[in-house]
Amino acid sequence: MASAPSTAPSTPAYCNWNPEDASFPEQFAWGASTAAYQIEGGWDADGKGPSVWDTFTHQAGERVFENQTGDVACSSYTLWEEDLKCIKQLGLTHYRFSLSWSRLLPDGTTGFVNQKGVDYYNKVIDSLLDNSVTPMVTLYHFDLPQSLEDQGGWKSHATVEAFDAYAHFCFQTFGDRVQLWLTINEPYIVAELGYEQGTMAPGVKELGTGAYLSAHNMIKAHAAAWHTYDRVFRKQQGGLVSIALNSDWAEPFQPHSLADQEAVNRHIGFCLDWFATPIFLNGDYPVVMKSRISAMSKKQGYPSSRLPEFTEEEKMTIKGTADFFALNYYTTRKIKHQDYLDSQPSRAGDTEAEQVMDLSWPVATGSSWLAVVPWGLRNLLKYIKDTYNHPIIYITENGFSQSDPAPLDDSQRWEYFRLTLQEILKAIYIDGVRVKGYFVWSLLDNFEWTCGYSSRFGLFHVDYENPALPRVPYKSATEYAKVIANNRPVNSHE
Ligand code: BGC
Repeated sequence: MASAPSTAPSTPAYCNWNPEDASFPEQFAWGASTAAYQIEGGWDADGKGPSVWDTFTHQAGERVFENQTGDVACSSYTLWEEDLKCIKQLGLTHYRFSLSWSRLLPDGTTGFVNQKGVDYYNKVIDSLLDNSVTPMVTLYHFDLPQSLEDQGGWKSHATVEAFDAYAHFCFQTFGDRVQLWLTINEPYIVAELGYEQGTMAPGVKELGTGAYLSAHNMIKAHAAAWHTYDRVFRKQQGGLVSIALNSDWAEPFQPHSLADQEAVNRHIGFCLDWFATPIFLNGDYPVVMKSRISAMSKKQGYPSSRLPEFTEEEKMTIKGTADFFALNYYTTRKIKHQDYLDSQPSRAGDTEAEQVMDLSWPVATGSSWLAVVPWGLRNLLKYIKDTYNHPIIYITENGFSQSDPAPLDDSQRWEYFRLTLQEILKAIYIDGVRVKGYFVWSLLDNFEWTCGYSSRFGLFHVDYENPALPRVPYKSATEYAKVIANNRPVNSHE
């Protein structure tokens, strides 16, 4: 009989092991996540400065579903107490939210502090703690202050310095009560959609260079903030700092094709490893990125690689700047090798990997990209364990959207959550992955970026037609509360 790997928490031998009967480890963090622009509204209330998402949604054009904006969203800026009720109803042990940089520092710099913004987040943090809910705070979730964008945004080194000063300000102001910090949410998405394809704010379209340059600065900004915490605050505050990285899991389209297997490596290399290799391993980009982009750049007549280089000193500064691994997982793709013949450079072209949806996988009704593949998460967790020195992992986002109008009885969606929780249990007990927490995206239906309010990810439904914006639990909320109360998935017959 096989025995559990030594790294796994003690559990009955798993030859007959059924995830339906297993409990999560003690002290497991049960959370839900949100982001400032997606829920707060109050876009110009009480001295808040504009962010790139305010600008992006206010500009005419069909960039967002029905030209919707986050001006009001769920109005969490005025209705925080309603959100708190949802958090308590679920029995969350943790709540992840982001700070609006330009609500705190209207022009992005510490030259002027908006006290009303500080008061708001103090209220949120204090009331969470009063209710024994641990805050996990993201410093930046896509909403860069517009004034920084006007000076080049993430393409400029000035933003690295501004971010470090902002992080210092947040650690100093809130760090006596916040111990779990995330610097940047999904730098991959900001780089690829914000500065390369231009489909998300700030809408910069610079194919082949925009993503690499903006990512380069985000990695440096993250590292600078981590060092600031480490040097100035860690001893006194004793918290942990990381960065939230998103990744799909990927499988070769033809399982036995070497070309497709290599394309899978590139797909993950150009997404998760792009950030995780420098931050968790060696301060530098994955070899596959460096060689591929250099070769493609040469072919396209560039004098040097389109991928910027870190100096040796920078590598030393970047390496080892995360105290845990924060993973956002939504979906899995089949990957095919694809020769890139187009002379137009692009990050996607550099990967020479085509993404294919497996038609046998169900797709979340609210997001055409979200193929539901719970086992992909287990594989990805194992990959992170094996590749990144067995870190402690928090799953900082996972979820499934429904299209609007969304039924309150979302049994199908809960089934996806239930299967996902089982895969996490397998990762913990069979694969020995150190998963310490799980955060559903999202607490509430909210502004789903370019999909506006048409895509609903919430555990609580929000009625946008009603000025009171009432929050009503979906069935998934009720079921999730049972899981949290029992610290394990609950069978339907229980
Ligand atoms: C982002 C969230 C977003 C979610 C669903 C993640 O990429 O962090 O802001 O709403 O995915 O698309």
